[in-house]
Amino acid sequence: MVGPLPCKARRRQVSAVIAAVKDLPPIIRAMSQSDVASVLEIENETYDFPWSAGIFRDCLLAGYTAVVLDLDNEVVGYSVMSVAAGEAHLLNICVAKALRRRGIGKRLVTEMLMRAKVFSAARIFLEVRPSNSPALELYFKTGFKTLGVRQSYYKAKDGNEDAVVLIYRFDGAGESA
Ligand SMILES: CC(C)(COP(=O)(O)OP(=O)(O)OC[C@H]1O[C@@H](n2cnc3c(N)ncnc32)[C@H](O)[C@@H]1OP(=O)(O)O)[C@@H](O)C(=O)NCCC(=O)NCCS
Repeated sequence: MVGPLPCKARRRQVSAVIAAVKDLPPIIRAMSQSDVASVLEIENETYDFPWSAGIFRDCLLAGYTAVVLDLDNEVVGYSVMSVAAGEAHLLNICVAKALRRRGIGKRLVTEMLMRAKVFSAARIFLEVRPSNSPALELYFKTGFKTLGVRQSYYKAKDGNEDAVVLIYRFDGAGESA
């Protein structure tokens, strides 16, 4: 049996492990109830009409697919999706303001596509505000197509705003309504 390492060598070993952990790429993992506070910080800094903690907690209790992107033990993005009867609905996706345009949103969408496929969903639907060009660009880039418009779907500061409905089809079939 090898004896304990001398103090200096042990410190070097610990530093090496810490450095390696710090270099780890961000991970996407299941959202848990203990993530809700961090998720809410991002939600509240982002939306005029944010989801409440209760909505996130209910989604988790209902078994929705919910993930966080964890960067060095900090939640910097998340997404929530329901899947039932072969159809998925992407309900929320959000990235911390300070870390946008670094590929995190794309990673989250790709992860949700993969998870929907695992559940054998044939299609994924989502709604997005027509004014939300970053999100629209992201969805088009990841293969979503326009399906239609839901009139006055969203609350807005001065009334209501329509929603653009997008669809992702795993079989790639015609996308129009
Ligand atoms: C939409 C959102 C999730 C995108 O996240 P992100 O991490 O910034 O996106 P990415 O860096 O992965 O960008 C992927 C692609 O999306 C498009 N995109 C993202 N932000 C964009 C912007 N501000 N303007 C134009 N295109 C944009 C680009 O095509 C981009 O690819 P590129 O960087 O190679 O040009 C993020 O802006 C966000 O959290 N917005 C607020 C919440 C929200 O609106 N969610 C959607 C509700 S339906």
